[in-house]
Amino acid sequence: MALVTTKEMFEKSMKEGFAIGAFNVNNMELIQGIVEAAAEQNSPVILQASSSAIKYAKINYLMKMIEAAVEEHPNIPIAIHLDHGPDFETCKMCVDSGFTSIMFDGSKYDFEENIRLTKEVVDYAHSKGVVVEAELGKLAGIEDDVNVSEADAMYTDPDQAEEFVRRTGVDSLAIAIGTSHGAYKFKGEAKLRFDILKQIKDKIPNTPIVLHGASTVIPELVEMCNKYGGDIPGAKGVPDEILHEASMSGVSKINVDTDLRLAMTAGIRKVFSEEPNVFDPRKYLIPARELVKETVSHKMKDVFGSANKA
Ligand code: G3H
Ligand code: 13P
Ligand code: ZN
Repeated sequence: MALVTTKEMFEKSMKEGFAIGAFNVNNMELIQGIVEAAAEQNSPVILQASSSAIKYAKINYLMKMIEAAVEEHPNIPIAIHLDHGPDFETCKMCVDSGFTSIMFDGSKYDFEENIRLTKEVVDYAHSKGVVVEAELGKLAGIEDDVNVSEADAMYTDPDQAEEFVRRTGVDSLAIAIGTSHGAYKFKGEAKLRFDILKQIKDKIPNTPIVLHGASTVIPELVEMCNKYGGDIPGAKGVPDEILHEASMSGVSKINVDTDLRLAMTAGIRKVFSEEPNVFDPRKYLIPARELVKETVSHKMKDVFGSANKA
């Protein structure tokens, strides 16, 4: 199987009620850990790279490593997706380099400008057979101490979602229902607005919904980082049960970066701390890659429901 678009994946996930994990990559160990988990779980998988990941690893290296992963695992549907494309030029570069899916993130613009810029990207990408994710609503800064009316203003408006999808022709939509990027998502209890998700699903039942900022911030990994010399106090993410509910309630794509950063760092820190004489990178990257694999495997099997859906 060659690289696939997310379109086929989402058709199946919407019909059968599960979510597909989209995991951020910027090096070989992440790609291998993720894809080996997908093969073990017989799960479709989306590998995604942000523009800063592309700057770090170079687009050619990323594409060639992902092509190698596809050759190694011919029975697993793998999509390569641009995460948070900031402008038309970056989106075009990824389309022209063989990405099968791209995101244009116009969430920082006002509604009309977001529509105008997203539509430009959609028109180009569709002419090349590439699908587009866009974002409506604002993720960052939704915190307990923000008063309700302010917080409400950041969530995706279901009526606007319908108008946005209709006017842009976008293939999938990232929404804001309470998640945020990074390791500090909630000060108090973790909570997502499933009521808003339902309203959005009612308005755009055929559009796959994407959840960004959806790492669990796995407590065991945070503990492991801290035990071996890290300093990440008070980190908190979206618990597995809530993500499982989202996977069964119409969310088709769940974005995970922070949990993989924690897994790699925990694996490396442990070796550094326990074996200070080690200076062969393979000695600490092997356990780091293994932790990435275990983390992804767990999500596919126990949380997203994508195991055996390849
Ligand atoms: O949503 C953002 C992702 O976690 C990517 O982060 O731009 O640091 O690669 P990055
Ligand atoms: P996390 O920071 O929760 O892993 O979110 C990643 C993400 O949304 C990438 O687009
Ligand atoms: Zn994101």
